[in-house]
Amino acid sequence: MPFSRHLKIAPSILSADFANFGAECEAIEAQGADWVHVDVMDGHFVPNLTFGPATCAAIRPHIKGVMDVHLMIAPVDPYIAAFAKSGADHLTVHLESGPHVHRTLQAIRANGCKAGLAINPATGIEPVPYLLDDIDILNVMTVNPGFGGQKLIPAMVDKVRMLRSMVADRPIHIQIDGGVTLGNAALLVAAGADVLVAGNAIFQGGSVTAPAAYGINIAALRRAGHA
Ligand code: DX5
Ligand code: ZN
Repeated sequence: MPFSRHLKIAPSILSADFANFGAECEAIEAQGADWVHVDVMDGHFVPNLTFGPATCAAIRPHIKGVMDVHLMIAPVDPYIAAFAKSGADHLTVHLESGPHVHRTLQAIRANGCKAGLAINPATGIEPVPYLLDDIDILNVMTVNPGFGGQKLIPAMVDKVRMLRSMVADRPIHIQIDGGVTLGNAALLVAAGADVLVAGNAIFQGGSVTAPAAYGINIAALRRAGHA
């Protein structure tokens, strides 16, 4: 797929029904999701625990498009091969996850995945210029990682602007992760985002058996982003 900065909506399955991941992935894609955002948490790097490579492998056959895996784990290096083997298209690691993030990003690409770099709210962006040749996605954490349904941290909008200008015309996506709503989507896109991750804002009001709400929420978020 050629690189495009066209707005993409990436529902996070952290807000999905954990007893029906496969059906939920099919439902959000059928309802217009561009990427499926898969939040992996280890209960160590973040104070929550979700799932690992086996779950990613199990949901892969239910995702036709992009499986966008967000690794909120530390250490991350021992698991890259397993997550790549699970079928992830993207592996996004945290700048804070270890002392050798440049090597980690190289390992992700060496395993055939696109490499993402996630930056926590309190982390600065000084290292980013040294990593621009090694990343395909910049994930700006707009909440403290670990949970869905939190409020976006307003100070992060300036960080998005600074990162967007740092990226310039390089084929690097600016992904917003956490607290995205109809109310802040336009501001985030105007600041330079081209991928909006959303859990609550998309899964609220819907279910595997009543997925129409997902489509309404995805379309509304896309419209809001273009406003
Ligand atoms: C938080 C995750 C986010 C979260 C987004 O650690 O990385 O992807 O699931 O959920 P909402 O959109 O509900 O904030
Ligand atoms: Zn995420």
